[in-house]
Amino acid sequence: QGLSIHISSFLKVGPERVIMSSFFTDLYSKYENFPVYQDDTWVVTYPKSGTTWAQELVWCLIKDPKSPEAKLELKKRFPFLEFESLRDPGLDTTGMRKDDPMCPGNTWQILHNLSAPRTIKSHLPKELLPKQIWQVKPKIVYVCRDPRDVCVSFYYQFIKLHGYKDTFNHFVQLFLDDIMLYSPFWVHILNFWKMRHEDHILFLRYEDMTKDLAAVVRQVAAFLGRNVNEEQVSWLTHHCTFEEMSKNPAVNYDTFRMAPTQEAKEIKFMRKGKVGDWRNHLTEEQQKAFKQWTLKYLQGSDFPYYQDY
Ligand code: A3P
Repeated sequence: QGLSIHISSFLKVGPERVIMSSFFTDLYSKYENFPVYQDDTWVVTYPKSGTTWAQELVWCLIKDPKSPEAKLELKKRFPFLEFESLRDPGLDTTGMRKDDPMCPGNTWQILHNLSAPRTIKSHLPKELLPKQIWQVKPKIVYVCRDPRDVCVSFYYQFIKLHGYKDTFNHFVQLFLDDIMLYSPFWVHILNFWKMRHEDHILFLRYEDMTKDLAAVVRQVAAFLGRNVNEEQVSWLTHHCTFEEMSKNPAVNYDTFRMAPTQEAKEIKFMRKGKVGDWRNHLTEEQQKAFKQWTLKYLQGSDFPYYQDY
């Protein structure tokens, strides 16, 4: 329940099939041919990996974080490329008016009206991103996160936004069967991991951001070619803490009007922001299943991550 529309379709563009909404399949040529510019900056992730966190940091480094524009909803400053394809008229839980600029159907307009240098978010895997990305090579910040925490975070998002009512166990099963939206998870990550040495790609880890955010601020600034002094680093680090972002209406998606029930309304977008919340959710059996699934994908890969499995 609540998942059916999202997993009703998949695309096979590269060697792997990717789970996408059926709307996406219809709109694919639009995304495939989306114009890309050299001075764009993209944040690309598998969902729930710290996308919003990286977006706010990148935006503040590229634009003026103290300008009135910084108070605009992140979705307007840093639009979500394929958001339109995730709209859900079947459930129609958005409660948004059609003329609301944040209504998924209107994001295409926002994207086209963005002034350069543009900042764009996408969860699309490598094979489904606009073709011009790989010719024009704009800067891409890719963020990955421990899949166990991604799964837990995604579960709460599905309850909140998509009216998911089945069990957590069932959700874990879908995730591990790679039939979750934007799955397969490891293919998404490993494709960017392989490109991590390319000049236009910065590969980040959510866990490193929680460990030493100031170091990541410096790293992202260097990647984007921005000179920042220590005062700016410290301001940005503070601005991007979980506590500050939770209070910032421009980034915490308090405006989500999609929650179908009171219980779901109480789930915050800035939920916990912790590494290892999976320990509070996964049974031993589920942990073993995560391990097996991970080892299957990481075999033969030099991805050094989560070997604590
Ligand atoms: P949790 O649900 O585990 O709390 P995305 O933006 O990709 O949807 O990711 C959302 C996840 O990133 C949520 O995880 C959210 O709390 C976390 N997050 C967002 N901003 C954060 C920050 N400043 N510090 C730590 N975690 C953050």
